[in-house]
Amino acid sequence: MGSDTKKWLKQYGEKVLKEVGITKNQNVLDFGCGSGYYTIPAAQIVGNKGKVYALDKDRVCLNEVAKSGQSRKLKNIQIIATSGELKIPLQDESVDVVLLYDVIHSYYFSPTTRKELLREIHRISNHNALISVYPRHMDLQDAQDIIENANFNFEQKLFKALLHDNSLVQDYLLNFRKK
Ligand SMILES: C[S@@+](CC[C@H](N)C(=O)[O-])C[C@H]1O[C@@H](n2cnc3c(N)ncnc32)[C@H](O)[C@@H]1O
Repeated sequence: MGSDTKKWLKQYGEKVLKEVGITKNQNVLDFGCGSGYYTIPAAQIVGNKGKVYALDKDRVCLNEVAKSGQSRKLKNIQIIATSGELKIPLQDESVDVVLLYDVIHSYYFSPTTRKELLREIHRISNHNALISVYPRHMDLQDAQDIIENANFNFEQKLFKALLHDNSLVQDYLLNFRKK
């Protein structure tokens, strides 16, 4: 693990995700969680009464998330392994926060599949749920328009220290609320 990743997990991750708006006891979906660099701090924030669903189609990444959670004695991470299908195996209105970090860009989603994913995100989100998007590899305004068109209200743009490809970077996040 590189030094920036260590720094992120030790010093920055929890602070930044608190500033994003994650709070104790919430249920969070980290869609396309990768190796879990956002899952872990989110799980530390929500605590024992909250839960983080770490969903990905990559089993190697999900094993890393599971190991990383176990080594930190976090019991509130639920791994969801998919085959990349857009149906999310969660109930209607069951999550308070959805993280879409570096995942909804065109490398993974066509405009049509992205719309389908956002419909699912809408279905599983509670009323007024926070949808936080890291639109890496996307034009910021395009990303905002796409999410707003999927029935979410734009709330704020944040500029934060984030971990991308194992490096700390300063970049924008967009927060939305379910209408
Ligand atoms: C660039 S990584 C970002 C990981 C993490 N969110 C982060 O910011 O560190 C994108 C992740 O999304 C996952 N992914 C892409 N499309 C997916 C889909 N349809 N279903 C589940 N996971 C998906 C990939 O497997 C990959 O782990």
